[in-house]
Formats: sequence, structure tokens, C-alpha cells
Amino acid sequence: MSVERLIPLVKSLEKEDIAVLMAVEEGMTSFEYVPLEQVVRLSRLDPQEVEYRLGRLEENRLLRRWIGHYVGYALNYAGYDCLALDALVKRGVVEALGKPLGVGKEADVYDALTPSGERVAVKFHRLGRISFRGVRRVRHYLAWKRHAPWLYRSRVAAEREYRALCLLHPKGISVPRPVGQNRHVVVMGYISGALLAEAIDLPNPRKVLKKVLENVRRAFLDAGVIHADLSEFNIVVDGESVLIIDWPQFVTPTYPSAERLLKRDVKNVINYFKRKHRVVVSLEQALAYVKGERSSLSLRVDRRAGGE
Ligand SMILES: Nc1ncnc2c1ncn2[C@@H]1O[C@H](COP(=O)(O)OP(=O)(O)OP(=O)(O)O)[C@@H](O)[C@H]1O
Ligand SMILES: [Mg+2]
Repeated sequence: MSVERLIPLVKSLEKEDIAVLMAVEEGMTSFEYVPLEQVVRLSRLDPQEVEYRLGRLEENRLLRRWIGHYVGYALNYAGYDCLALDALVKRGVVEALGKPLGVGKEADVYDALTPSGERVAVKFHRLGRISFRGVRRVRHYLAWKRHAPWLYRSRVAAEREYRALCLLHPKGISVPRPVGQNRHVVVMGYISGALLAEAIDLPNPRKVLKKVLENVRRAFLDAGVIHADLSEFNIVVDGESVLIIDWPQFVTPTYPSAERLLKRDVKNVINYFKRKHRVVVSLEQALAYVKGERSSLSLRVDRRAGGE
């Protein structure tokens, strides 16, 4: 189902529908498919009402019915999206969803508006749709992990990304502003511009690389955050300004492989600039700079560098 259609659908759901969806969500901590009597128990509604609601929700394809040695129900992504959006709409965080800004393997990002008309981006984490790689540390919701790993992983990813933005943004590091989070969804400030990977003609690539490394340094030194998946695909360039996006896999400096991940981030960025824009800096120098072991950088433009 297209996500744009979800907000009108969310707004058309009645509180009993939401109660039943939430009962199924809760039940998925113990069952892959939640038995009907458990849905009844968890929703605190009477059985007839629950059956009617389950029928409606299934028709709207917000959950799946499974018939095996018992009849059970499970949320799908659309149902989970509805629960997160319902909470965000009720909290006054989101009012309307617009066009997709980026739809890919691990997340769908949509243009959206808040009730006051501010433009925001809504990111639906979708881990477990393909193989999972993002979350490195086991956190809570362990129960969901067993019976509905996609639900658990997507939720942990959203929480981690939101936490990273909350650590980084107040320190003035160039990241989208955190606006809200619920379940597997993160709402953040809308940013314009193009991915670095798609920005072919940078007027001043030296300045862009400098800004990226400056932000990596400040994230590390001022916020204790290492991106851990930094590349030209997670950097947005808008004129002279640079933003770093996509933080769910961040680690802190005390994480066992923090050092290696920081080095990989820096290496990805400097190799890209060398290859595409012929801006050269040594890995040793760039790494010392982001770790605060030196205070400046000297970036050269080398006409012989580059190529693939
Ligand atoms: N705050 C934002 N404002 C505008 N566009 C955004 C914002 N955040 C992300 N996008 C767009 O959505 C795309 C995907 O975002 P992001 O990199 O955070 O997710 P991802 O996990 O890499 O997803 P995918 O698996 O699709 O690559 C970005 O390349 C960008 O075009
Ligand atoms: Mg990305």
C-alpha cells in the first residue's frame, strides 16, 4: 500500500480499530500469529467487537490472518505504520504525508507537514525486509525480537537514529532537526539539496570536504557520536551547506570497534573526494583532525589524482 494513503486511513480508524491493532502488536511479543482469544484479552473489548474490527482491518490490509492449527493475526508494515502515524497525528507532530523523498532497502522517507504547516521528513525504518545489518547492540523489546524481528529491528533503528539526532543537533552539528519519533518512525526537519553522490558539479569541493570533516570532528568530540555508515550516499549538499543524514547505526567512542568505524567513515569520504573531485588529504591527517589531535587540515587539489 502506498504510504501517502495511510494518513486518511489512519484518520478514518476508530478507537476500537486502534485498540485491536495495539492488541495484536502487544501479542506479537509472544506469538508470531496472535490467537484470537489473546487479541480479545489484550484489547479488553468484547469478542464480537474484536471479530468485527479484525475483519475491517484485514480488509484494509493492515494485518494478516493466518490459519494453521489455530487462527492467528499479525501486523504487517502497513498496520505498524498506522499505529506509529496515529500516535504522531494525535501528538500533533504530523498532519499530512506527501511525496516520497527516498524509497529504498532499509527505509522509506516521505515529505510531510506538521499541523502548523512546517515541512518535515518522515522516515519509516524497514529493517528485516531484506537482511538485517544496522543494529549492533541488543536493547529492550527483546520479546518482539523473537517473534517479529522486523518489528523489533525497525523500532530499535528509529530509536537510535532519533537519539543520535538529539545528541547532535543541539551541538550545532549539521544534521536534520529531530522533531519526533514513534515505533519505527522518525520525524525530522526537511532538508533540501542533493546527495553528494549525485552532485556532479560541486563549485567548491575543497570547502565541502572541509565541512564534512569538520562535522565528523564535532560529532566525535562534542557529541560523542560516530556515524559508522558515512559515505557520499549519506551526505546532502545544498549550495555551500552540507548535512549528514542516516544515523541509526551510530556508535559512541567507547564501543569496541569505534576506532575502526571512525577510520572507515573518514576513509570513505576522503577516497570519494580524491576520486571524484581530486581533492586530496592523507588519511592520517584527516583522522588526527577528526580526533582532535590536530587543529587544522590542509587539503590539496591535485590534477593528477582521481580516476577510478
Ligand atoms: N530530512 C530529510 N529531508 C529530505 N530528504 C531526506 C531527509 N532524510 C532523508 N531524505 C532522503 O531520503 C533518502 C534516504 O534517507 P536515508 O539515507 O536516511 O535512509 P536509508 O536508510 O539510507 O534508506 P535506503 O535504504 O533507502 O538507502 C536520502 O537519500 C534522501 O534523499
Ligand atoms: Mg542512506
